[in-house]
Amino acid sequence: MSLVLDPTAQDLLFREARTANTFTDEPVTEEQVQAIYDLVKYGPTAFNQSPLRITLVRSAEARERLVQHMAEGNQPKTATAPLVAILSADNEFHEELPHLFPHFPQAKDVFFAERPSREGPAAMNAALQAAYFIIGVRAAGLAAGPMTGFDFRGVQKEFLDDDHTPLMVVNIGRPAEDAWLPRLPRLTFDQVITTV
Ligand SMILES: Cc1cc2nc3c(=O)[nH]c(=O)nc-3n(C[C@H](O)[C@H](O)[C@H](O)COP(=O)(O)O)c2cc1C
Repeated sequence: MSLVLDPTAQDLLFREARTANTFTDEPVTEEQVQAIYDLVKYGPTAFNQSPLRITLVRSAEARERLVQHMAEGNQPKTATAPLVAILSADNEFHEELPHLFPHFPQAKDVFFAERPSREGPAAMNAALQAAYFIIGVRAAGLAAGPMTGFDFRGVQKEFLDDDHTPLMVVNIGRPAEDAWLPRLPRLTFDQVITTV
């Protein structure tokens, strides 16, 4: 009763949304990805940094290269998902700050002039955006299979550059009938929430 979001949407985004391990052959279109991004781009980040970058792996040749860097147990999922996305953090996000945070354009130089001062914020805020992205995939009626079981250095060298740190690989598509492992328990409110 406390939530204003329609219960059907609550189920779609959280209660019935699951991490998919297998997918149907139905393609994920560019229009769907565009709609997902145009929704989740509004999720908040510190200083509006927006450091998430997304590499869509669409060609068979690129897919093959990516699969080589996945942990063995993740390889079949990445080989067969309709679409795979490499999510990374842009450590040079500060270059966009004068545009993204125009009421304090000096932030770029005051807080983020040196690379070490950018890496932590880039990782945290891109991870936040990765979560928004997963919820956005669900909002499109699709399922996401996020994975960190891969060779990070290998994926960085193969697909990115030193300015972009891989965060996770996400399989995307419509879930197959056997897509799910049993739902795992979650921590309760009392285990997590402390009020002071
Ligand atoms: C950041 C992240 C990394 C993950 N890495 C892997 C992975 O490498 N391989 C895998 O099979 N599942 C991976 N998972 C899936 C989680 O185990 C799964 O989302 C979690 O158990 C919840 O499952 P549920 O959505 O079905 O309740 C990952 C999930 C997240 C969010």
